[in-house]
Amino acid sequence: MARIPPDVIDRVRDSADILDVVNQYVDLKRRGRNYFGLCPFHQEKTPSFSVAPDKGIYHCFGCGAGGNAINFIMEHEKLSFVESVKSLGERYGIEVNFEEGTGSSEFFSGMYEIHEKAADLFHGILFSERGSAALSYLKERGLSEDSIKLFRVGFAPESDNVLLNTCRGVYSDEVLEKSGLFNKGQTGFFDRFRSRIMFPISNPSGKVIAFGGRIFSSNDPAKYLNSPETPLYKKSDTLYGMDKTKSEIRDNRHAILVEGYTDLLQIYQSGIKNVVAVSGTALTQNHVNQLGKFTKKVSVVYDGDEAGIRAAVRAGYILLRGTVEPAMVSVPADTDPDDWVRNNGPEPLTAAIENAKPLLKFHLESVSMDAMSSAERSELIRDILREISGIKDPVIRDDFLKSLASSAGLDDVEVIRMFKSQSKRKRSSEPETGPEPDLFTTVEARAQAEIVRILASQDSRFLEQYSSKVDTEYFTDPLLKKIIGFILDKKDELTIPEILGRLEEKEEREKVSALFMEDYDLSDSEQALMECIKSLKTQKLKDRIKAARLALRDLEAAGGDGSEQVNEIASLQKELEAIE
Ligand code: UTP
Ligand code: MN
Repeated sequence: MARIPPDVIDRVRDSADILDVVNQYVDLKRRGRNYFGLCPFHQEKTPSFSVAPDKGIYHCFGCGAGGNAINFIMEHEKLSFVESVKSLGERYGIEVNFEEGTGSSEFFSGMYEIHEKAADLFHGILFSERGSAALSYLKERGLSEDSIKLFRVGFAPESDNVLLNTCRGVYSDEVLEKSGLFNKGQTGFFDRFRSRIMFPISNPSGKVIAFGGRIFSSNDPAKYLNSPETPLYKKSDTLYGMDKTKSEIRDNRHAILVEGYTDLLQIYQSGIKNVVAVSGTALTQNHVNQLGKFTKKVSVVYDGDEAGIRAAVRAGYILLRGTVEPAMVSVPADTDPDDWVRNNGPEPLTAAIENAKPLLKFHLESVSMDAMSSAERSELIRDILREISGIKDPVIRDDFLKSLASSAGLDDVEVIRMFKSQSKRKRSSEPETGPEPDLFTTVEARAQAEIVRILASQDSRFLEQYSSKVDTEYFTDPLLKKIIGFILDKKDELTIPEILGRLEEKEEREKVSALFMEDYDLSDSEQALMECIKSLKTQKLKDRIKAARLALRDLEAAGGDGSEQVNEIASLQKELEAIE
């Protein structure tokens, strides 16, 4: 990835005020030193999400999310580390530039650049002589020049390797190859997209990472050709349009999900802007997790044909499993949302969204359950129970089971029994992972945690005086050992957000934010520190004494000479007495 110089990252982290950052997205109320609000990372009715401005961190006591200001932006906005630093840099007026140099950062900046260049090139061609037929076609389809420009729609002409000609010699072969914008034949690279209307696909921060290309005046059988998966583009993670529509989605607490690029453009142009599209793949759990950060309600507006309805039902269950409520919208038979809005304006769509159906009703109507034989009905119910078994939220699951019972004319209890016997069968084949072990619960780990907390909260004078008394040797917990290593290495004050910034694993950051978020008393740090060190030292000595005793016993049982162990035990005991 592109590299930001470490000192710039430090400045951004130090300048970002966690309270100000979180306040943009969460209503916070002050309680004592900390602030509380409803967690943006999971659904809850009473606030367990807290921000400690003096420590520079956030932590949710409900779901365990936690970290510093940069982590918050990464999680909440679904941005990469680099993008989050840039976004915070903009907010706090710090210029974030990239370091020249390392191969990998060059590779990634090349990858982004080549996509940017391709988008510009194709967009320019659409508005030139060679693109004029494609442009009139788009206008005939009701797309305005403004929409075409906003979404940077373009055109890739039939022959000529237009893209290759502008990129050859500018980018490394590795970039050309991995960009997915070229195919490789016997004579070398050639343009992948030909005679296609090009829809640039962006990541959530608006950078072009791939293209979807619709066939235009050619008899290529593939109507749409998308970029392959590349180091920048993962289909199952990418929602088309999200970069432009995420704030509308968040403000409305509602997203409209469609299947096609043109559906999205037409709906957006009609003034309904909280819309996203899946691009060239079915909806995935990753898509839902992403959407779920912005809204808990998604209206599914897929094509009104059989395939569209079937895909909509599948999408509905995936949303439900991600604890997002699917509102199923009926689109007139054999129409897609694009045609519908183009021919009738946005009103019928808006009305249909208001009259959307719950998933179960939509599903049962789509298969006309009422006309089924009892055997078919039984099969259908089993299929549905299987879909529901993936729903983790017990409230949503139970509600669903009850509606299923009442729609199928069955007893609640009977349906719940079927569900339980089905999920039991499932569970025996795929074991569930148990709950996470509690954090830092042993006496030893508590003492180690306490030392970390004290040293992370003191100024450089305190550290100068006391850090020599702390030895990483005393630390048995690997995570705490790592942090104490950071602190002792730096020899100077290391802030809590800085510590979090050095942890690369999300689980580690969450554990550490929880540790610092606990109420702890720093009124007598000096004494507390000495007590903790003492208890760790004694523990270590006691462990060694115990080990030596065991060795002695074994040795004597085998008839050997244990005098060495006896001496060792005596000297360890002396050491122990000296501390206690
Ligand atoms: P549609 O076939 O419904 O196309 O595919 P459309 O969006 O209505 O396009 P127009 O109106 O004919 O121009 C819906 C979506 O499915 C994906 C594309 O993302 C498309 O927008 N798709 C479709 C593919 O990826 N490949 C295909 O061959 C067809
Ligand atoms: Mn269409």
